Amino acid sequence: MNVQTIMVVGAGQMGSGIAQVSAQAGFQVILSDVKQEFVDRGLGTIHKNLSRNVEKGRMSEQEKADILSRITLSTDLADGEKADFVVEAVTENMAVKAEIFKKLDAVCPAHAVLASNTSSLPITEIAAVTSRPEKVIGMHFMNPVPVMKLVEIIRGLQTADEVYQLTEDLSKQMGKVPVSVNDFPGFVSNRVLMPMINEAIYCVYEGVATPEAVDEVMKLGMNHPMGPLTLADFIGLDTCLYIMEVLYEGFGDSKYRPCPLLRKYVKAGWLGKKSGRGFYVYN
Ligand SMILES: NC(=O)c1ccc[n+]([C@@H]2O[C@H](COP(=O)([O-])OP(=O)(O)OC[C@H]3O[C@@H](n4cnc5c(N)ncnc54)[C@H](O)[C@@H]3O)[C@@H](O)[C@H]2O)c1
Repeated sequence: MNVQTIMVVGAGQMGSGIAQVSAQAGFQVILSDVKQEFVDRGLGTIHKNLSRNVEKGRMSEQEKADILSRITLSTDLADGEKADFVVEAVTENMAVKAEIFKKLDAVCPAHAVLASNTSSLPITEIAAVTSRPEKVIGMHFMNPVPVMKLVEIIRGLQTADEVYQLTEDLSKQMGKVPVSVNDFPGFVSNRVLMPMINEAIYCVYEGVATPEAVDEVMKLGMNHPMGPLTLADFIGLDTCLYIMEVLYEGFGDSKYRPCPLLRKYVKAGWLGKKSGRGFYVYN
């Protein structure tokens, strides 16, 4: 299949990045969210990233203008009728994603592939709400999308081989390195990363150390480029909590129980960098 138009559903941290790399790779992009202010904010982020590239001499003004000209904004999922490939990047919640996949399945052309950027939810379960489970796949980008090379590609139980191949090819066209993993809670990236972040939060909760000290230990002692609590703030504490809940429920193992402090922060609206406060305060 010749992909020309990619629709990205959800214009938050991840969706705006996915729209940017898709447009940079030469695809027509429809960036969609529930409200105009959210798509405007997503486009604003892309604008800022591209301007930085121009300032640093990595891109010309003309290239920036060409990339932006390939992106259109939408607040209506019915625009999926123009898409050959959809990447969903909305909140990490099965009910929300299932609703979107049902709608996309109804409006998108029969040939369109429906991919999810979910960090942890079962692709097989998402696929099951559609009439095209063979065309549903996990395409898990890393944050920040324009910078990070990895894309985990997750086959659901019924994902067709040619859909896997197409998704791998698209990832490469976007300058990414695809890695194939199977459909288990958290895949590989978050099954390994999230329990470490959760344990770092337990260290703060139990008074073992301050957030600064935990991060310093992991940076200087383990050579991590970013401490786990800084990383948690960057990912979004709501997303971290959703992922821990998926691991906890999916494996039924108490070692994945989310730290109560993480729950408390999310309830308070301290979602990390995107809300201005998490383990640290942001301007
Ligand atoms: N943050 C990360 O580091 C990271 C990394 C990889 C994958 N992910 C995954 O990407 C997805 C999005 O995460 P994010 O960090 O961009 O979150 P975010 O909160 O920044 O953005 C989510 C966006 O989805 C939109 N949305 C919610 N319901 C919607 C609906 N019904 N229709 C259309 N849009 C809707 C919201 O308005 C918001 O703009 C999640 O599945 C998350 O697990 C996140």
